Amino acid sequence: MDLSIKIVSLHRKHNIYTMFIFNDKDSLEAFLNPLINQKKTIGFVPTMGALHEGHQSLIKKSVAENEITVISIFVNPTQFNNPEDLEKYPRTLDRDVTKVKEISDLILIYTPTVEDIYGNNPAAEQFDFDGLELQMEGKHRPGHFDGVGTIIKKFFSIIKPTRAYFGEKDFQQLQIIKKLVAKENLPVEIIGCPIHRANSGLAMSSRNERLSAEAKAKATYIFKTLQEAKEKFQQQSAKDVTQYVYDAFEKDPEFELEYFEIADEETLLPCIEKEPNKKYRGFITVFINGIRLIDNIALY
Ligand code: PAJ
Repeated sequence: MDLSIKIVSLHRKHNIYTMFIFNDKDSLEAFLNPLINQKKTIGFVPTMGALHEGHQSLIKKSVAENEITVISIFVNPTQFNNPEDLEKYPRTLDRDVTKVKEISDLILIYTPTVEDIYGNNPAAEQFDFDGLELQMEGKHRPGHFDGVGTIIKKFFSIIKPTRAYFGEKDFQQLQIIKKLVAKENLPVEIIGCPIHRANSGLAMSSRNERLSAEAKAKATYIFKTLQEAKEKFQQQSAKDVTQYVYDAFEKDPEFELEYFEIADEETLLPCIEKEPNKKYRGFITVFINGIRLIDNIALY
């Protein structure tokens, strides 16, 4: 039996508490390849770290559905269009490892360096996601989804997962990854996971760490307004509901609404006239105290 399989089965049997942390793709591949040859199912959860319960919900699902779970913790430079945002992105590896351990000691963590992934040229591949990349976040963060597509494609080729888990919190990203897999015929199943919220309704996000307690309390207004939009959308037009949301944020100068849009879940094209067989979602991006928060809600 190969050493890596021995380690995993030994750990299962004796409940030995050790963590598997890999800093480079060669050692991760060397560990995974024999397991892949054994046809073990591999669940993969890509993250940029600063883990919270939202990430943990994805990791738990992967652990429940696969024999092996790999999570990546990597702040991917090619998906940031704003250098300051990249610099300020929270990096909390020790805490992250503890949060993974809370779930299981058998999870593999891949925390590569930029060089391990990109060599000395961190550049994004250019993708055509059939227009999904041109809507909403794509409009406001040029190049962002090229960076996301680039890193996910690289991760898939290293890890060769059976299933990969993405949150509906970033709904456009989830649809884009599904498109990437379909267009490039990648042998992986993409699993969308529901948005995990704090009791206050605020969607969990690594960026919430940068909010003051006051701003965090205020930010609960985002989900409240989305719920109101959902209720109104049952009777009213997309245009009227959109206007309602803009008015709601206009009232408070501490919020800066970047966009609210009602769009078709599949194409992400804006809803002009409601069509009976389509599923719509409301998508929102708001700045509060300079922190950019995103959220969305199913309107059906
Ligand atoms: P990150 O923002 O760390 O998110 C990692 C995954 O966790 C994404 O699939 C995201 O949608 C999911 N997630 C975040 N908050 C969530 C919440 N409150 N409920 C449910 N899921 C949640 O998204 C990225 O990283 C990056 O773009 C990445 C895919 C890792 C590529 O670099």
